[in-house]
Amino acid sequence: MSSVDSQQRILSGMRPTGKLHLGHYHGVLKNWVKLQHEFECFFFVADWHALTTNYDDPSGIEHSVWEMVVDWLAAGVNPGSSTLFIQSRVPEHAELHLLLSMITPLGWLERIPTYKDQQEKLREKDLATYGFLGYPLLQSADILVYRAGRVPVGADQVSHVEITREIARRFNHIYGREPGFEEQAEGAIVKMGKKNAKLYRTLKNRYQEAGDMEALETARALLKEQQNISLGDRERLYGYIEGGGKVILPEPRPLLTPDSKMPGLDGQKMSKSYNNTIGLREHPDTVSRKVRTMQTDPQRVRRTDPGEPEKCPVWGLHKVYSDERTQMWAQNGCRSAGIGCLECKKPLIDAIVEEQKPLHDRAAEYESNPDLVRAIIEDGCETARDAARDTLEEVRAVMGLKYR
Ligand code: TRP
Ligand code: SF4
Repeated sequence: MSSVDSQQRILSGMRPTGKLHLGHYHGVLKNWVKLQHEFECFFFVADWHALTTNYDDPSGIEHSVWEMVVDWLAAGVNPGSSTLFIQSRVPEHAELHLLLSMITPLGWLERIPTYKDQQEKLREKDLATYGFLGYPLLQSADILVYRAGRVPVGADQVSHVEITREIARRFNHIYGREPGFEEQAEGAIVKMGKKNAKLYRTLKNRYQEAGDMEALETARALLKEQQNISLGDRERLYGYIEGGGKVILPEPRPLLTPDSKMPGLDGQKMSKSYNNTIGLREHPDTVSRKVRTMQTDPQRVRRTDPGEPEKCPVWGLHKVYSDERTQMWAQNGCRSAGIGCLECKKPLIDAIVEEQKPLHDRAAEYESNPDLVRAIIEDGCETARDAARDTLEEVRAVMGLKYR
């Protein structure tokens, strides 16, 4: 089995629920594009997660999957640096979900805020299902099957990463306690050589006695550097720092996605459910029409009435798209009735259309070559499966499912 550097590994997913918009671009996707240069990234289409709420009408899922992949590629997610794949094509997610379900207390799932919230919000659907209750556990399996150390998510998903940590801890607690663990860990320390062994013990004490997080990080870094200990010993020593057993499934941390500053056409947060979006690959004519018909400061009835940018959703777009000079021009022009609203909107239309040009270009390339998109995903699924298989092999073994 190959060794995994969890702290370097990132996993995130999106449900295929329709076309992406500029809110996704400025929030999630630009973040992914940045992360792919710094980490080993796995990004996937969570089609099973889409089924948990759309089981009654799955007809749109397939189309949404491919459309979303093209949206990602258009936004600059690069299949050369990150692994792009589809959840249901890596059945190891399902196997780990099943195995984790054995140790997951029902109460943990019932208590997650999104469980009741979403049921309330999607009243028209019957979500009193087994699959929907298990939504966060499936998400845990998504993360743990890659032993990803960091998970970029929005604030609404942090509770799902938290339960993943709890499940990993419980798993390691139950299955990481092999007989003779302490002796083996002590033996492994010695293998690091005198100097490192001493340093490891000091850091371990500092963490265990004083809760020194820096010592924990340093000890982990120390283990990462060790050339002459086996993977099993490394996992033992990771767990031993914290006084636990072997770390088979490392606990991931949420990497909070910076809140998208992208306002919708009505000034609220851009969201499909508010019907205020500009598509990620919206046609320039439609961008122009959508911005031109945006509401402005209601006090500004006539061209000669002065307005107040703070009361106008158009100003929110200037904050995202305009440089300081244009912003001053808009503010002063608005308050003095020196410019009209259409005039004020013009530089925004230009900026959005300009921003989208490279996205349209990339998308066109992929749309004219669907086989290429299929091949990218095929490739990604294979890479993902290899990584997932490694984890499952170890999970099966410690759960007593190794028939050889
Ligand atoms: N639940 C996430 C959402 O709705 C999507 C998702 C599924 C996910 N599995 C994941 C995100 C694993 C991060 C990691 O946005
Ligand atoms: Fe809004 Fe600009 Fe019109 Fe002022 S001038 S009301 S900021 S669109």
